Amino acid sequence: MEVLALTGGVPVHASGWPTWPRFDAATVAAVTEALTSGRWTVTGAWNGRETYERTFARRFAEFVGVPYAVSTDHGSSSLILALEALGIGAGDEVIVPVLTWVATATAVLNVNAIPVFVDVDPDTGCLRAEDLEAAITDRTKAVIVVHLHCRMADMDAIMAVAKARGLRVVEDCAQAHGARWRGTMAGAFGDIGAFSMQQGKVLTAGEGGAVVTHDAGLYERLQQLRADGCRYPDVAPAPGEPYLVDAGDIMGTNGCLGELQAALLLDQLDRLEPWLETRAASAAFLDGELARIPGVRPLARSPHLQRPSIFEYAVRRIPDAFGAKSTAVVRAALQAELGVRVHEPDRPLHQNVLYCPETKERYRWIAAQARPAAGTRFPAAEELYANLILLPHRVLLADRAALHHVVEAFAKVAAHSEEL
Ligand SMILES: Cc1ncc(COP(=O)(O)O)c(C=O)c1O
Repeated sequence: MEVLALTGGVPVHASGWPTWPRFDAATVAAVTEALTSGRWTVTGAWNGRETYERTFARRFAEFVGVPYAVSTDHGSSSLILALEALGIGAGDEVIVPVLTWVATATAVLNVNAIPVFVDVDPDTGCLRAEDLEAAITDRTKAVIVVHLHCRMADMDAIMAVAKARGLRVVEDCAQAHGARWRGTMAGAFGDIGAFSMQQGKVLTAGEGGAVVTHDAGLYERLQQLRADGCRYPDVAPAPGEPYLVDAGDIMGTNGCLGELQAALLLDQLDRLEPWLETRAASAAFLDGELARIPGVRPLARSPHLQRPSIFEYAVRRIPDAFGAKSTAVVRAALQAELGVRVHEPDRPLHQNVLYCPETKERYRWIAAQARPAAGTRFPAAEELYANLILLPHRVLLADRAALHHVVEAFAKVAAHSEEL
């Protein structure tokens, strides 16, 4: 008789999964070249050769389909630089979807602005234009739109509201490299797109990031914000002289991406497109197959989302299904069947212990002005947090036979949920 792996049975899949991050001899050669170049940062001396940092920014801008990009050290700093470049500051309100990683909101705090939480679309987990519009006050200056869980917010509707109401738009694309909505990549809709290249992301150098924009003025500000007020030179300096030149039009900080990381990102960027396509095809397969299993429902997908970017593959369990067992137990059973971490989404910010502005002296005044008021519920985000089941994106790089095992694992756990 078939027994669940969680209770001692044979797992559905025991042959492992593709690893992440991925590299080969060409990656080692690329990083070694940067290592031996003698220049490890864009803030170092000019050596007669374009920096990896700037080359990566150019190539990443091309990838997103925008004229300008600036490399950064993290996704979190990308968000802060974006808000600063847009002139968001003391007392401004910035609308943030409540279902996201904590960095989306802490970036707002970092520029002395007030994050205003808004619930998400119950079908996709992303921000909805009508909820954005309803939260606007005369203090609202910007919105950070987060594309996550393999979906994108409806950027046509959101940009229409932002235009009509005079809001600046930052897209948080930490989980959405290469996602495409009606022919345009995530990050290319708003004033600025902010990306993370942290280890788990689909384009990674361990740590890293980038900001992208269509606007030459914002590009100038972003350069200076990320390099203590310095910018790229108009003409190359003499060898041995610092590459970046002092500008000081706006005060910056050091958010520069290191040269080794930039070399690594250039190597990874060359591999990104086929990986995106493989994962998107795997996700389409899983969406179709898992929809047939009682109690499992893929997230709704707009026909405008031409290609999802699969950061964490997300599927929803229906609360009464799986013998009404808790989602934590269902996840544990799937994890035992598949031999890979099966996990929950980030906890919505209003319930997340990591979002705690009152613990920092400089944020106390903002915590006191929190909107909406403490105790407000966000039913869609809470329901998604309770019921989403996430798989790491490396699973979706596996072959079809292995993906069939994912489907079998769900079917097995559904059939044996009484034994959980
Ligand atoms: C939605 C979102 N925004 C921002 C970030 C922050 O990026 P980083 O970790 O590179 O600072 C992350 C990282 O997980 C994220 O998922």
